Amino acid sequence: MYVTLKEILKNTRKYKFAVGAFNIHCLEMVPAMIEAAKAKNSPIILQVSPTTCKYIGASLLSNLVKYLANKADINVTLHLDHAKDFNTIKEAVDNGFSSVMIDASALPLEENIEKTKEVVEYASKHGVSVESELGTIGGTEEGVALNDGKIIYTRPQDAIKFIEATGIDALAIAIGTSHGQYKSKAKLNFNVLKEIYDVTNIPLVLHGGTGVSNEDLKKCILGGISKVNVGTELNVAWVTAAKENFGKAKVNDSCRDLLIPSNYAVQKVIENKIDVLGSSKRTV
Ligand code: 13P
Repeated sequence: MYVTLKEILKNTRKYKFAVGAFNIHCLEMVPAMIEAAKAKNSPIILQVSPTTCKYIGASLLSNLVKYLANKADINVTLHLDHAKDFNTIKEAVDNGFSSVMIDASALPLEENIEKTKEVVEYASKHGVSVESELGTIGGTEEGVALNDGKIIYTRPQDAIKFIEATGIDALAIAIGTSHGQYKSKAKLNFNVLKEIYDVTNIPLVLHGGTGVSNEDLKKCILGGISKVNVGTELNVAWVTAAKENFGKAKVNDSCRDLLIPSNYAVQKVIENKIDVLGSSKRTV
């Protein structure tokens, strides 16, 4: 079934599990991502950055994901990740995405609220869910976190105000993760997570899932995280297998056969992550 973010996350806080949101990097890997979720009988969120959305095309993406979702006996959401402007979001909504993220977290709180409200108004008219972000999720250089000690954590009081003012369906919070961190592990602030969880009632989202150890992921889920974003780890698995196979290939070998191990590597990463997140057999 093809469902919204609101629908796929609706029982996560109650039963303490998280649904993985996995970044699509190319069209080839999409069927393998759904296969992973099917193998684990788990809901799954497939997401794309605005750049990948432009590369593949919003309509092609949503038609493919809808087709595969409707054939599979699991819930699937297609989500636009980290969009910064209204037009990019409008294109995704108009082309059948079931969820979008507006990332105006670099702006002052009031401006973030205004931008997010504009998106919620448009998306909700079309039955599409909205995620938004508060605080600063860190940066990386060559896979290593840059900003130890310089992270601006999400403030619980801001979270209360933001959720009330905007009507969003999920909130991305900053508790110490970075995007693209794959050579080191993030240091998370579980006190901040608890403070935010205690004063909110909508699903909370953890970005930068690649740099988080399995042990910490489990702690995050017990602490109330509902959605975990994983991107870089899939890319690393895909490219590692591609380098190995293309490196030893003859030029007239079938490129199809050369791509299969890369797609399979992505499938295995997702299957393992589903086990850690506890979303297997969570069909409601
Ligand atoms: P990683 O690439 O660090 O896993 O982060 C993914 C992410 O948070 C996408 O929004």
